[in-house]
Amino acid sequence: MNHDQGQGATRPTLVVLHGVNLDLLGERPVEHYGTITLAEIERTVAATAAELRWECVCHQTNHEGAFVEFVHRYRRAAAMIVNPGAWTHYSYAIRDALELVSGPVAEVHLSEIDNREEWRRVSVIADVVSLRVSGKGVEGYVEATKELIRLAGVGNADEAVNAAAGGV
Ligand code: DQA
Repeated sequence: MNHDQGQGATRPTLVVLHGVNLDLLGERPVEHYGTITLAEIERTVAATAAELRWECVCHQTNHEGAFVEFVHRYRRAAAMIVNPGAWTHYSYAIRDALELVSGPVAEVHLSEIDNREEWRRVSVIADVVSLRVSGKGVEGYVEATKELIRLAGVGNADEAVNAAAGGV
């Protein structure tokens, strides 16, 4: 889904990339992911970004190479949220691509990966992101959006600082 609202080229853009199996949120184990759909998450992030006068562009793919190509395409975006799904735990290709992103990147997971199976506790992208949020469901995305906008330091600095502090 593309939430680019076309309200002017001067707005900074937050890019949101979802990886493998996240298209089926809403059908995945409810104890880990709840009932929220990917479309609902994307709408929430886009609305949060819009309040701060940022654009939002969202993509999902089940193909690792396509995910890498999205990272390449958007490597100069003002900020990026990634939830690569299971690739988080072993894709050095995605890790190396994220290293090329110039703006701040947030790694977000709906479930608390540190409190699940041993293999999920490893994130091979952790060292190339600016912030990590896990186990907070869709609220984690809202938190990451506000914090990234604050970190990016472009556009509405005061509003973003207030937002990251919980004021918006
Ligand atoms: C996930 C956690 C991953 O371990 C898992 O493979 C996913 C979703 C999350 O959002 O909690 O697909 O990234």
